[in-house]
Amino acid sequence: MRLGIVIMAAGKGTRLKSKRAKVLHQIGGQPLLRHVIASAAQVVPARDILVVVGHQAELVQAAVRDTGVRFVEQREQRGTGHAIQCAERETRGYEHLIVLSGDVPLLKTETMLALRDFHVHQKAAMTILTAEPTHSFGYGRVLRRKPGKPEVAAIVEQKALKPAQEGLREINSGIYAFQRKPLFEHIGRLRPTNAHKELYLTDMAGMLVKAGERVVAIEAAHPTEVLGANTIAEMMDLDREMRLEKARTLMAAGVSIFQPETVMIDGGVEVGPDTVIEPFAQLLGTTRIGSDCRIRSYSVLENTTLGDRVEILHSCVIEDAVIENGARLGPMAHLRPGCHVGQNVHIGNFVEAKKTRIGAGSKANHLTYLGDAQVGSGTNIGAGTITCNYDGVNKYQTVIGDRVFIGSDSALVAPVVIGEGAYIAAGSVITDDVPADALALGRARQVNKEHWAKNRRAQQEARKKGSTKK
Ligand code: UD1
Ligand code: CA
Repeated sequence: MRLGIVIMAAGKGTRLKSKRAKVLHQIGGQPLLRHVIASAAQVVPARDILVVVGHQAELVQAAVRDTGVRFVEQREQRGTGHAIQCAERETRGYEHLIVLSGDVPLLKTETMLALRDFHVHQKAAMTILTAEPTHSFGYGRVLRRKPGKPEVAAIVEQKALKPAQEGLREINSGIYAFQRKPLFEHIGRLRPTNAHKELYLTDMAGMLVKAGERVVAIEAAHPTEVLGANTIAEMMDLDREMRLEKARTLMAAGVSIFQPETVMIDGGVEVGPDTVIEPFAQLLGTTRIGSDCRIRSYSVLENTTLGDRVEILHSCVIEDAVIENGARLGPMAHLRPGCHVGQNVHIGNFVEAKKTRIGAGSKANHLTYLGDAQVGSGTNIGAGTITCNYDGVNKYQTVIGDRVFIGSDSALVAPVVIGEGAYIAAGSVITDDVPADALALGRARQVNKEHWAKNRRAQQEARKKGSTKK
């Protein structure tokens, strides 16, 4: 069977009140349209998926071009029926079409396959995927010829419901299978005689029935799968649904997630067994976490790879980093993009790092900035150490060898190299390279003035007495 899939994604999404096209809004960390394409691509190869674009067509195409789907433009968005009219040429060669909505992102591959199989088995010209969700307001309703039978008489949009029809609970999901031939034989007869003056694809149901074609409906197994996202509130509902499902999948694979309704885990994130995720953690993008890790509350990890037994304490912000086995970060550590943290490294509170490599077993436990730095292994970075990597124009590297001891509150003015085994005295400003195993002192020598404080107090006392006598 030659099967193509058409995804309608040209609409603006007026009800979102947003500058951004609806299908580019994200749930579960990905644009709506990417979710729809991902499920469709499990049913047919990407080249057999045709996306109808219109509003912000270029941005929409750019956001999904890498998936390998094809595009057709619907210049003016004159309704869902018109969107499919625009796909006529590009779908030549297919016997059947599955039509999906770019704003119905939770649809599962299995449901699409069930729709396809039912459609073929029923020898229908049009098969409608339906559902009975708790709230049906706003959706088109499906009128069956007889209750419990597959044959459909028509689809009625919310605004066209007669009072007697308002109780109808079976909704049109906006997802259909068509035999291509009867679809395009009749689609030219759609008329914009409705509340929005649009060409409604839903009118094809009644029209095909009148033409003597077979139109049937199949109910989706889970009504949540076919929910659409027309408003921000609906979008957030779907986001919650998708993330909860992700959390359930991870829990089934041995991950402990406390209060999963509070965590934000993107679809692409991987987590190993026996890892514990505390409430209000965020794991985003392509983050990968090993086994036996702990991610404490309020930490945000984006595109970050963690080995095994890594501990991320409270409120860390980590982006584009690699953190090896046994490392411990936080609370309140900030890794900006490009950091590599070696095995068993400790990064403590109020430490910020950027484009920095830190070797195994090294420690930077308090109040430090490491930017554009290479730190060896077994090195201790004292509290308050700053790599001065920027002179106002350019950035420079700081290289620190193995087993170095940097005394607290030192400023390392890059470019600078600290040889292995070297000591930097606390409070130093280091502007020159330090040889291996040397001690560098980069501060004024201390001067002690004996009795100075005592003498000063005595002077002050004497002055006070002199003034009260008068
Ligand atoms: C549509 C159905 C409704 C169904 C609901 C399910 C129609 C007339 N109504 O309503 O019966 O219950 O979906 O979610 O079809 N689009 C285009 N070009 C256009 C207009 C829309 O590509 O000219 C795209 C949109 O980007 C969107 C999809 O088609 O992805 C559905 O359009 P939308 O306006 O959201 O339809 P609904 O009002 O939700
Ligand atoms: Ca919709």
